[in-house]
Amino acid sequence: MECYYCVYLMGIIVLLMSWWFVKEKNENSKRNMKVPKGNSGWPLLGETLDFIASGYTSRPLSFMENRKSIYGNVFKTSILGSSVIVSTDPEVNKVILQNQGNIFVPAYPKSIRELMGEHSILQMNGNIHKKMHSLIACFLKSPQLKARITSDIEHSVKQCLASWTHKTIYIQDEVKKITFTILIKVLMSVGPGEDLELLKREFGEFIKGLICLPIKFPGTRLYKSLKAKERMMKMVRRIVEERRNVMMNNNNGAVNDVVDLLLRDKGEFSHSSSSLVIEMISQNIIEMIIPGEETLPTAMTLSLKFLSDSPLALSKLMEENMELKKKKMDSSYDYTWTDYMSLPFTQNVISETLRMANIVNGIWRKAVKDVEIKGYLIPKDWSVMASLTSVHLDEKNYENPFKFDPWRWEKIGVVASSNCFTPFGSGHRLCPGLELSRLELSIFLHHLVTTYSWVAERDEIVYFPTVKMKKKLPIRVQPINT
Ligand code: HEM
Repeated sequence: MECYYCVYLMGIIVLLMSWWFVKEKNENSKRNMKVPKGNSGWPLLGETLDFIASGYTSRPLSFMENRKSIYGNVFKTSILGSSVIVSTDPEVNKVILQNQGNIFVPAYPKSIRELMGEHSILQMNGNIHKKMHSLIACFLKSPQLKARITSDIEHSVKQCLASWTHKTIYIQDEVKKITFTILIKVLMSVGPGEDLELLKREFGEFIKGLICLPIKFPGTRLYKSLKAKERMMKMVRRIVEERRNVMMNNNNGAVNDVVDLLLRDKGEFSHSSSSLVIEMISQNIIEMIIPGEETLPTAMTLSLKFLSDSPLALSKLMEENMELKKKKMDSSYDYTWTDYMSLPFTQNVISETLRMANIVNGIWRKAVKDVEIKGYLIPKDWSVMASLTSVHLDEKNYENPFKFDPWRWEKIGVVASSNCFTPFGSGHRLCPGLELSRLELSIFLHHLVTTYSWVAERDEIVYFPTVKMKKKLPIRVQPINT
């Protein structure tokens, strides 16, 4: 009898072991077969040095191109401390960015995660994120906001341009004065003055810690950045509190900025105490400065760089904008936001700038489960980077991709859903500042080319850690006689 039980037990164990063995073998072979090919480089360093070095050359794509030619459009590498699957394929990128079924979550470096609160829109996921995103996107692209903010943008642009004559100016720094003022106005209606200066100063200190070693004690970069955030929080908290008090007396006022918007629709914070609501809204406001503060001024700077190198495009842009200026002067009506957005060549210059500038060169995500896209397996917990630059500068997608050619858009048309043109990302996290950015760029270009001619000094674009001009693009401007 005992012998019978032993054989029985052995049988079960053998069965279980064979099942486990077959399962493991299948999973391993699934992983081995389909995880994209690639090289993990040196221990710890991976291929980071190669990646950074290519960012400092005039061919930032060389890192991607070399690997693409050996391993194909989707490959494996190890950069900035993590194993990552890089996609240069527009269809694979689309699936990653669409994120059906919440398979991918944002994957930011540790220093960025430390600086952003867990309630930041950049770190939220699932339904909470969906709700917050659509709330902010609807507000930022609303015709009411655009109508209201147009004269503020005009004012800010004209004021800045007026200070440019008779000296060399550094475009990269100058345009920040325009975009920061507008961003803060949109977020919390703070105009020029002490509060704006404090925010400018402290945000400059805060942002320095976004890419740094994640070590936090007095004296370290991360610590200084967190301290700057505390100082900003104190000011923003005061504004949110004041606004909340006004709103308690009258809840039917207009929504003028993102503070109003979040206070009105507390959403995920609705069950939290009043002080927690103020805390979370204040944090969100500060964290929303991050994606808008650097991107738009870089787009303005690079538009000027590309135009300086393309006299034909500049002359056509000027002709189109002069026509509008003349029309407005003859009619003596103010400009509306639709006037600025109605100029087709100007919109093509903006699209071409965004395609070539690649201000956000790639979008990082982490897979929360195994996922197969177009035959490639992305295993759970792996990072994945959808390279936008590779798609925007691929000759399969754009003829003569390194040439600044706004006319190409007359044939292509600005197809918002195109997989091959995603400077603002796509899917659930499509940039909510897209339309506002295009409007600001249009107003900036209009007043620039109808007021000044300029001579730009020779300068180069650097692509690491973010896209910038090596010498901040020095130019000298000359008023034109209109
Ligand atoms: C030329 C200018 C800009 C470019 C190229 C740009 C690009 C992008 C991209 C590619 C993303 C998607 C990131 C991802 O999928 O993880 C994004 C997200 C975002 N952008 Fe922009 N952006 C620009 C301007 C702005 C401005 C002016 C604002 C603020 C008013 C803004 C606010 C945001 C926010 C809040 C998100 C996060 C959305 C979310 O995760 O749901 N951006 N941006």
